[in-house]
Amino acid sequence: MAKTKTIYSCTQCGAQAPKWAGQCADCGAWNSLVEEIQPESSGKRGARFDNYSGATATVQSLADVGSVPEQRMSTALPEFDRVLGGGVVRGSVVLIGGDPGIGKSTLLLQAVAALSQDVPALYVTGEESLAQVSARAERLGVSAPRMQLFAETQVEKVLEVAQQQKPQVMVIDSVQTVYTEQLQSAPGAVGQLRESTAALVRFAKQSGTAIFLIGHVTKEGTLAGPRVLEHMVDTVLYFEGDSGSRYRVLRAMKNRFGTVNELGVFAMTEKGLRMVTNPSSIFLSRHEAPVPGSVIMVTREGTRPMLVEVQALVDESHIANPRRVTLGLEQNRLAMLLAVLHRHGGIATYDQDVFVNVVGGMRVTETGADLAVVLAILSSLRNKPLPDGLVVFGEIGLAGEIRPVPNGQERLREAAKHGFKHAIAPHANLAKHDAEGIEVSGVKRLAEALEQIRV
Ligand code: TYD
Ligand code: MG
Repeated sequence: MAKTKTIYSCTQCGAQAPKWAGQCADCGAWNSLVEEIQPESSGKRGARFDNYSGATATVQSLADVGSVPEQRMSTALPEFDRVLGGGVVRGSVVLIGGDPGIGKSTLLLQAVAALSQDVPALYVTGEESLAQVSARAERLGVSAPRMQLFAETQVEKVLEVAQQQKPQVMVIDSVQTVYTEQLQSAPGAVGQLRESTAALVRFAKQSGTAIFLIGHVTKEGTLAGPRVLEHMVDTVLYFEGDSGSRYRVLRAMKNRFGTVNELGVFAMTEKGLRMVTNPSSIFLSRHEAPVPGSVIMVTREGTRPMLVEVQALVDESHIANPRRVTLGLEQNRLAMLLAVLHRHGGIATYDQDVFVNVVGGMRVTETGADLAVVLAILSSLRNKPLPDGLVVFGEIGLAGEIRPVPNGQERLREAAKHGFKHAIAPHANLAKHDAEGIEVSGVKRLAEALEQIRV
């Protein structure tokens, strides 16, 4: 294969340089040059953005373009299918990120083994040897005689084999280990990730093969590599969970073929990942008696409501800048809620360390958790438990008002189903309250909510 020329281009301003340098000569940004394949001639550059079918594009009116229903394949893991929007779409590229050891390889081995019963499947491993993958499959008890394994990291060779084998599903474990021989930089470098992924995406679109890319996440919890990776693929999923807990949550961050923020819940067992079909109450710690600082809230992630326990610990601080620590919630939001609690509830925490945690390694991204967080903080501060059988949800505004949250009725019904007797919820959510067996106190302002619990 003829060696293509490479150039370095600045990710900030797009300037190009023949050699790598620490600083872009044009815009002065540091460490922004990444290696790229040089297009053969400037006129050809558009070829890289050709439409995928290879046909010449014509202008059509929207009404004339018929929609083609996506062809989906089932992974035999309904929770996984749901997060994907109803199964794997042919020709789609799905990026799955997660901490090391969370179970990404396990999940995909199980899913692809199931898919290989119906369609040809290829599992490309760049991190583990074939024997290791086979040992894992044995442990999982999956038998997939028609699944092909391939240990290779050079993307050209992977694509060559894929062209021969014609798989309909392919896994790349992991995208950080693949490289293209056209660039000199090491696998995992920004340029390598970008070019290798681009080649894989092109292949997926041309051949109709569904590709799963496993990606590493950085310490900050985002996918390692440039954000551009997330733009190139159709679907971005995160596999997360507390390493101490056996529950794992698969979350869609971007999905061109379904809704985002859909959740799939799994449990890691010695026989691999098992689905949790009724995850509604697994994130509760089930205290024998009510304890201070613990509040149950109903969150709604994706298309279903879930009960989650929020815990707070408020402790006297001996440092000038008291600590505000959150696990599973946004930290800035906590600082804001403490300010609202002070201004509109008259409760000061400036001399207290505040820790807030969502039980079970769950992450709550919605503002409906506000009221639960504030009540948990108050309960811990006063060292008094909240009444048994209470659930809480609601968003708090800067003016101390309690704002409604989407799908209030559904949340109340879920709480009632699990035997909760009393709810504190935004007043505006009660307009069409019909949940049986649960008494709901609708609150308009933070002060009213604090009055309700009288701790
Ligand atoms: P793995 O899929 O290798 O994680 P990743 O690819 O995300 O790095 O999963 C590794 C962990 O899962 C490991 O700590 C052991 C655990 N595990 C089980 O508990 N049961 C199993 O059946 C398997 C295969 C793994
Ligand atoms: Mg792995």
